[in-house]
Amino acid sequence: MNPPITDWRGVRVWIVGASSGIGAELAKRLHREGARLVLSSRRREAMEALGLSGAVLLPCDLRDPEQLSRACGEALAVLEGIDVVVWMAGIYQPVTVDDYRPDLVLEITQTNYVALLHVLGDLLAHFRRPSTPAGTSGSLPGGVPPTPPRGLALVSSVAGYRGLPKALAYGPTKAALTHLAEILHLELAPRSVGVWVIHPGFVQTPATAVNDFHMPALISAEAAAHEIVRGLARSAFEIHFPRRFTLAMKTLALLPYRLYFALMQRGMRPARGTGGGIVAPPRSPESGAASPRCGTAPGEAASAMSAGGNGGDPVGCDAIVQFFERLTPASLDQLDRIYRPDARFKDPFHEVVGVAAIRNILAHMFRKLPGGSFVVTGVVTSGCPAVPGGVGAPGQPGKASHSDFASPSPGPDPGSLRVCCLTWDYCVEFGGKPQRIRGCSWLELSDDGRIAVHRDYWDLAEELYEKIPGLAAMMRWLKRRARDG
Ligand SMILES: NC(=O)c1ccc[n+]([C@@H]2O[C@H](COP(=O)([O-])OP(=O)(O)OC[C@H]3O[C@@H](n4cnc5c(N)ncnc54)[C@H](OP(=O)(O)O)[C@@H]3O)[C@@H](O)[C@H]2O)c1
Repeated sequence: MNPPITDWRGVRVWIVGASSGIGAELAKRLHREGARLVLSSRRREAMEALGLSGAVLLPCDLRDPEQLSRACGEALAVLEGIDVVVWMAGIYQPVTVDDYRPDLVLEITQTNYVALLHVLGDLLAHFRRPSTPAGTSGSLPGGVPPTPPRGLALVSSVAGYRGLPKALAYGPTKAALTHLAEILHLELAPRSVGVWVIHPGFVQTPATAVNDFHMPALISAEAAAHEIVRGLARSAFEIHFPRRFTLAMKTLALLPYRLYFALMQRGMRPARGTGGGIVAPPRSPESGAASPRCGTAPGEAASAMSAGGNGGDPVGCDAIVQFFERLTPASLDQLDRIYRPDARFKDPFHEVVGVAAIRNILAHMFRKLPGGSFVVTGVVTSGCPAVPGGVGAPGQPGKASHSDFASPSPGPDPGSLRVCCLTWDYCVEFGGKPQRIRGCSWLELSDDGRIAVHRDYWDLAEELYEKIPGLAAMMRWLKRRARDG
């Protein structure tokens, strides 16, 4: 994987996009850690105002390829080489199909993505050459590492995971950066040149100061810089934070297109009545409780999440979250509290109808993977009445989006469809080690708030890729184990 960077003393770093926000905080942090900095962005005075002694300032405008190439040449020369390039610069402006302006979209694309391509050739040529010494040995306490870690860190965004509303210009640039980073990593990591991709969630910076909506799991630019330094000290390819938000976004990105689009489109609708049709952001215990993770006592996260109550809902999303987080073999007898008698359930291995059949599946899971518990890491709800033209199978206006069931589903009354999408970890010990299986449940609720349709998506692969050699064989074994009685 990537070379971990644990000691920044003497490491030569070029930060592109260092005058404000995350880039400025990262520059300050690396300066404190003893890195030698070259900083670029358009505003020289803003970079000067950081007051980082010894930092070389190379102002340039990424929209001007000549300026950029000149700055890149100087950056690679001024300290007799660069060890780490952090490609931070980026601009965001909401763009939808209704306000599409080619000039604006091209400017965002140029700044966020195309500019990098102008200098990538020079950077690759630089990294293909053997590392040159930083030339500061002996001038720092303890000296510098003989061969400093090298590489390229590209700052993308969770907006690059999948298409999001209003991101017509920004989203594709970030998806492209992520994709580019993956390819570069494939080829450069074996040559000991690191390539990192950085996926921040919401960070408080001048770029997000204009947002007029609630930004879930918002963190400070200083905290973001800390996460980046922490991530670079590990060998992982991807650095993403805050995890309580990015994990929920990752799980949403696993949904099949049909469900993903349905959920997003519901979120994009204007509010109606109390349900509002608003897709609440993935929630997590931000109200002072421990972050959801394996090891959290069952019920702990749920009680934090349900602090707002469910507004007199007889069952509803919050109650369902609590029920699952406290689920034990003993509480299986109370499943009818949260499931309608004719509820439909589907997961990678089963498709059943009725509470008794669902109970059998969960009882089987507890038998095969005893001692496990669910920790819900995110909740997305949608409460507006279904409307003609809303989600649904063609020809079934407003009908629930669970049409991947083998046979037509009774489902909830289309006129009162409410959806609750949970991301969760199933925490359990097997093979003598604590393990975490991540998944996502799409729940369609009926009038009384009980589950009418339950569709589960599991991400066994992500958890197992890194931990278990011979993945394919193990996946087959796990599937057999989960399926066979
Ligand atoms: N804040 C978030 O919530 C968030 C979330 C996910 C990803 N990100 C990504 O994180 C990175 C930093 O964002 P931020 O929130 O810290 O934003 P920011 O405070 O606005 O910083 C953006 C940086 O990019 C530079 N820049 C913009 N246009 C440029 C141009 N044409 N030429 C040269 N430099 C240019 C800016 O410098 P000048 O204005 O001086 O040129 C500034 O230093 C961006 O890539 C952004 O997409 C941010």
